[in-house]
Amino acid sequence: IDFAGRTAFITGGANGVGLGIARALLAEGAKVAIADIRQDAIDKALESFDNQEAMGVKLDVASRADWPRVADEVEERLGPVSLLFNNAGINLFQTIDESSFDDWDWVMGVNLHGVINGVMTFAPRMKARGLGGYIVNTASMASFLAAGAPGIYNTTKFAVRGLSESLRYSLAPHGIGVSVLCPGLVKSQIFASDEVRPDALKGAMKPVDEAGVTRMEQLHQHGMEPDVIAARVLDGMRENRTHIFPHPEFRDELAGLFEETLGDFRDYPEDPGFEQRTGFETMR
Ligand code: NAI
Repeated sequence: IDFAGRTAFITGGANGVGLGIARALLAEGAKVAIADIRQDAIDKALESFDNQEAMGVKLDVASRADWPRVADEVEERLGPVSLLFNNAGINLFQTIDESSFDDWDWVMGVNLHGVINGVMTFAPRMKARGLGGYIVNTASMASFLAAGAPGIYNTTKFAVRGLSESLRYSLAPHGIGVSVLCPGLVKSQIFASDEVRPDALKGAMKPVDEAGVTRMEQLHQHGMEPDVIAARVLDGMRENRTHIFPHPEFRDELAGLFEETLGDFRDYPEDPGFEQRTGFETMR
């Protein structure tokens, strides 16, 4: 895929991974819209771009009703969007059994419905124009690897992976690629997610664990630089890869998971008819 001259829409583009992708695309000659819930971060990012073809839009990705207006605004100014990065995400580290429905609504709203809203807004536009294009949805290594604490986060990221892998089949005939980005630790601001939680979803939340946030902040200092991730994302798009794994150190852990998963299969030789029940690939 050629990035030059195309218009990109990047959610969560004011910080972290999204900002890295914005910089990398601008350097390739693309036009870039960064959509983010933090206006101060948008302003700071735009200042750093140095007069390139970029704009910022304030958007809460969970807010379905705002998407068409924002999409129109961007396309009027920068032309048809053919590169979409559904990247905005927040995290919440607590187990599912300790979580409230407000916690579910917040994390599902941003991490899953944000991606759904982006796809439902832009995929029809991209298909109708016939210019091809590309969609990258940011999941995480947590879209494969589950643990107790990131329960809701795991749920959303597994779903983003499923959505992306399915969408990849249905958009391929339209010349639109789809990849799911699965990073490990990133040097980013995600530890500050509590700051962007809407008041309406704070009712039943547990008090913010300040010590936990500080620990996360320290941990994320050791994460991969967003610019390094962004370069690997563009590589993955050029190769039209299903998964983009910027952190190669997870390969063995994933191999272990697959082996463990296969270990749950049993042979049931007395069961007749099993040969007719394979063949999921016919639905692709
Ligand atoms: P970040 O917090 O630095 O950047 C995320 C951006 O999304 C921020 O600018 C934030 O203001 C924005 N945002 C948050 N809620 C939003 C909403 N409702 N609507 C619009 N924008 C919103 O975090 P980071 O790490 O760059 O996160 C990007 C993606 O990468 C997320 O989907 C995250 O789950 C994923 N990821 C992050 C990892 C990490 O170690 N930080 C690891 C694996 C995946």
